[in-house]
Amino acid sequence: MKTIIEPFRIKTTEPIKIISRKERIKALKRARNNVFLLDAEDCCIDLLTDSGTGAMSTKQWAAMMLGDESYAGSKSWKKFERTVQNITGIKHIFPTHQGRAAEGILASTQIKKGDVIPNNSHFDTTRANIEFVGGIAVNLLCKEGTDTGDISPFKGNMDPEKLEQCIAEHGREKIPFAMLTVTNNTGGGQPVSMENIKTVKSILNTHHIPLVIDACRFAENAYFIRQREKGYENRPLIDIAKEMFSHADAATMSCKKDGLANIGGFLICNDDTWAESFRNLLIIREGFPTYGGLAGRDLEAIAVGLMEALEYDYQVYRQATVRYMTRKLEEMGVPIVRPAGGHAAFLDAKKMLPHIPALQYPGIGVVNALYIEGGIRGVELGSVMFGGFDADGNEAASPLELVRLAFPRRVYTQSHFDYLIEVIKEVWQNKADIPGYKITYQTRFLRHFTCHFETV
Ligand code: F0G
Repeated sequence: MKTIIEPFRIKTTEPIKIISRKERIKALKRARNNVFLLDAEDCCIDLLTDSGTGAMSTKQWAAMMLGDESYAGSKSWKKFERTVQNITGIKHIFPTHQGRAAEGILASTQIKKGDVIPNNSHFDTTRANIEFVGGIAVNLLCKEGTDTGDISPFKGNMDPEKLEQCIAEHGREKIPFAMLTVTNNTGGGQPVSMENIKTVKSILNTHHIPLVIDACRFAENAYFIRQREKGYENRPLIDIAKEMFSHADAATMSCKKDGLANIGGFLICNDDTWAESFRNLLIIREGFPTYGGLAGRDLEAIAVGLMEALEYDYQVYRQATVRYMTRKLEEMGVPIVRPAGGHAAFLDAKKMLPHIPALQYPGIGVVNALYIEGGIRGVELGSVMFGGFDADGNEAASPLELVRLAFPRRVYTQSHFDYLIEVIKEVWQNKADIPGYKITYQTRFLRHFTCHFETV
């Protein structure tokens, strides 16, 4: 087989700067050892997130010129609505400025204090939005999902038994809806099978509990279903996506991922009463329902981007990149989450740095070493992001200590990835010198964004 190439050529370039190791040490110190506080221009390859960092296509840029900036009922809105409806088959469509705005509206309108929201794994903003209104976010990930070495094809699945138990324990009245996050970002970008979506939906149906899909990476999930699930070989990705959404009552979406746009999101639902409550809050928080916090040109770019994310050749190239990276890392013996996820390579920092206890944040150790050695910016998904405090104020560790190297869509070429592999190799060879960290400043919600670290 020939090399899988990028299915595009580059028309516009953006320079990147490589500062010296000495300068990087100084920059990290200024950022209080938290890479979120670095200046982006001091990062030569920025893998902090795949969110809003993608490159738009010529068709998207062209569509932006067609942006209709009318306050109400613009042509761009019509195009956006038609596209989202075509992919999801869902009735009511509300644009939002990004995914967390959709989550905030859903949580504020549907969750009462003490309510329980099951999910395979909540993303941090989803959890924060639920907890902010007094809800309890519970993760019911399947067993394989927490074993980083397990190579099951659908490690993002929810455990149906745990879902049954959760409903039996709390009762239907306490569960206004359940969620499924496709792909499961925090568990390694692992997909959810169609079978699991159907099983979860049928359990929820018996108890009259609606299913909400967190659809940020729905097209990547559709691609995995096509590659790995029986009966979906050769099916167009749009058909698979339609089927996924046919089991959902509502969905939240960040178009900064599989919308291939730099900003945007949506909240959609079938139920008219839910729609009414969403509309009311949308107008207060985001904007008139036909633009919801976005410019007409953003709606245009998203309408094109959503369809481009469902192009098979694009997904083949994207997943080849992730596999290329993970295969090289496996060859070097670096512990990673297997199999390759959809949008990122995940390093297993707990296994990489066994000399650092969880509450000295091995993930931060790896993230900071990657920055110092090569100017690479990754992100910790471990005890800093997901660990919390128990009722007595004791800090609890997260079950996994991962480092995510998220791949912006259509941005970096193979030589960038080869450089990245060289940097990881250096960090891996010198792992014994990596220190643990302690937190010297933190906030109550989403502390990882702003906290300060010192080495211990
Ligand atoms: N749900 C999932 C699964 C996500 O990954 C994200 C964002 C959101 C919801 C929220 O969307 O950023 O548009 O408000 N994830 C980004 C990331 C930030 O880096 O993984 P948003």
